[in-house]
Amino acid sequence: MERSPEWILLLFLFSLGHGFPPWDDRNALLEKENSRRVGGSIIFGERETEANRNLMKIKENEMSQADATGVFPPSMHFFKARSLIQQSKVFKILRKMPKGGALHLHDFAVVSVDWLVKNASYLPDCYICFISNAGVRFIFSKESPAGQLPPGCSDWLLLETYRKTVADVTEFDNSLIRNLTLLTDTPELDYPTQDVVWRRFEGTFITVGGLISYAPVFKAYIYESLRELYEDGIQYLELRAMLLPVYELDGTTHDSFWLVDTYRNVARQFINAHPDFTGLKIIYTVHRHEDISKVKDAIHTAIQLISEFPDIVAGFDLVGQEDAGQSLYQLRDALNIPSQTGFTLPYFFHAGETSWLGRDVDKNVLDALLLNTSRIGHGYALLKHPVAREMSLKMNVPLEICPISNQVLLLVSDLRNHPAAALLADGHPLVISSDDPSVFGSKGLSYDFYEVFMGFGGMEADLKTLKQLALNSITYSSLSAEGKDKLMEMWQKNWNMFIEILASETWCNSQ
Ligand SMILES: *[C@@H]1O[C@H](CO)[C@@H](O)[C@H](O)[C@H]1NC(C)=O
Ligand SMILES: *[C@@H]1O[C@H](CO)[C@@H](O)[C@H](O)[C@H]1NC(C)=O
Ligand SMILES: *[C@@H]1O[C@H](CO)[C@@H](O)[C@H](O)[C@H]1NC(C)=O
Ligand SMILES: [Zn+2]
Repeated sequence: MERSPEWILLLFLFSLGHGFPPWDDRNALLEKENSRRVGGSIIFGERETEANRNLMKIKENEMSQADATGVFPPSMHFFKARSLIQQSKVFKILRKMPKGGALHLHDFAVVSVDWLVKNASYLPDCYICFISNAGVRFIFSKESPAGQLPPGCSDWLLLETYRKTVADVTEFDNSLIRNLTLLTDTPELDYPTQDVVWRRFEGTFITVGGLISYAPVFKAYIYESLRELYEDGIQYLELRAMLLPVYELDGTTHDSFWLVDTYRNVARQFINAHPDFTGLKIIYTVHRHEDISKVKDAIHTAIQLISEFPDIVAGFDLVGQEDAGQSLYQLRDALNIPSQTGFTLPYFFHAGETSWLGRDVDKNVLDALLLNTSRIGHGYALLKHPVAREMSLKMNVPLEICPISNQVLLLVSDLRNHPAAALLADGHPLVISSDDPSVFGSKGLSYDFYEVFMGFGGMEADLKTLKQLALNSITYSSLSAEGKDKLMEMWQKNWNMFIEILASETWCNSQ
């Protein structure tokens, strides 16, 4: 191989000044990388430094254990890693960590499904029907709901009566729980492809809808959602919601305006009981497989909702499997409506949740940015689009990273290899969320934070990374400047308490 004159000159210069190879520069280069990581520019006070030292001691311990045993949860499927994560001290610390806001969750997939089965399905007037391909449907009704059999359904049976005929009620209830999640011991066999897992995934939403869309359950579900998130160290929520009709026992239904009003009332009730929780906002969503006229209607509804409830409706998004649905570009006639009418409708598009480079939907990351999206849901494909990546950096549009969701829905298997690991190392604007924790068998954000901290961040990410991610969730929320200040203040209080506990030796020894 021939070396260019430039190379020879460089070699010569190095040998003069620093020696070659330039080992003298090594530390400075590593330091430069460290400062680029998410959190790299944070300067810690004394107690935070001590807390960080304790945390990193525990983390290093778990890392060397993984090295010795070859068992590292972020490299495993979450369904198999879950019980291991629950034993991790790092995870226990993350459970306690004040995380700020949760910015990417879906309305019907927040609360652990145990609650739905053990509580909601035990309410009076709950009917069940069994579908031939092993599914179930629920409905609450005063009379037997004979006329409304869903396709493939046997017959509506009053659950209270049916349970009395079941030999093993615990096992029966567990089968209902399995219907509402994707959990299985053999995910690689049950979900061989993205399409298969997506069909099961969307099926759980249909099943769960019969329970959650019943008005009394709906209200309790919102409250439970906030409670589970609050217990996980979250003080604010932005929820993507389809606002599907909610029904009463007599069959009457409520529209999207009633739903938003109910979200607001339940959130107020929750805040009264938990004053360090600051609120809830709704991102109205519609399924991306709807035809364009339906999407146009949804845009008009979004405009009406945000006009009537500016304090709680944050904007609009499209949901559903990107590869199976229409691209943002295909839907542009609908998505252009607000700007054409001079109305600001903030967008929060899911974009780039795909493995396919160059397909129509793969351009969603670029098109989302062209449509002035406020954040990008997932942005899994962003790394393959350097120009879109630069735009997101320049426009300060963060990605909402949901590692467990991406793994369960088969974009990536070993979470150390998630593309956002590179973005985390490069200080790209990111927030961490959990998408549909109940369906994946997780809870709140802690499991996803664990995957990011251990899997993406490896030996490098420390408490600064975690603090920055929490700060990002406040900065990149759709709260007003005033709302952000308030959340920041309340988060800071909890953060300081957390740091005190983490910095104290006694706590570490007792864990
Ligand atoms: C059901 O949920 C409600 C509301 O959260 C709660 O008050 C009640 O105790 C729960 N009941 C059971 C059986 O878990
Ligand atoms: C759903 O529940 C039904 C009724 O108990 C059961 O037969 C079926 O196996 C369950 N589905 C799954 C995926 O567990
Ligand atoms: C882009 O979105 C932001 C936030 O919703 C808004 O303030 C701004 O006016 C929008 N810009 C354009 C050109 O629509
Ligand atoms: Zn999502």
